[in-house]
Amino acid sequence: MTKIRCAIMEKLDRRGFLRASAIGVSAMSSVLTSCGGLRYVRSSMDGADIRIDRRDVDAPGVLVDGPDGELPIYLRVLGPDQFSALSMRCMHRGCQVESVGERFVCPCHGSEYAADGRVLVGPSELPLVEYRVLADDTRIVIHMNAPVARERRA
Ligand code: FES
Repeated sequence: MTKIRCAIMEKLDRRGFLRASAIGVSAMSSVLTSCGGLRYVRSSMDGADIRIDRRDVDAPGVLVDGPDGELPIYLRVLGPDQFSALSMRCMHRGCQVESVGERFVCPCHGSEYAADGRVLVGPSELPLVEYRVLADDTRIVIHMNAPVARERRA
């Protein structure tokens, strides 16, 4: 079953929505576009691996439930046979980041990350955790026990 979630929109009540609208139509529309564009796909665990049916994945990417109730993984399409998998857990204090345009924004304290997980704006100093991904003709596998080595913010 496909699920669509958006923590930012879940946190906005009517008054919050009106206040957020006051910050500008373009900023708000980018949040709304992001919410509508993030789609969850079915996945299954196999040991420490997450398996996804390749037919369920389309550009720019999809969300996959993290293992054991952890925050989701953003599986991004980089090319015909290239994917990246980023944890949506902010490396500052663990809130779920949201996809806004080509960036990820944390609703808790404002950290921003590039599409590849690099820190653009603090307070976070660490990039989003990235996991190795392998794909064949029918499935995509995210290896949760194989994080990619990343550097701290300079
Ligand atoms: Fe994300 Fe603090 S938890 S910026």
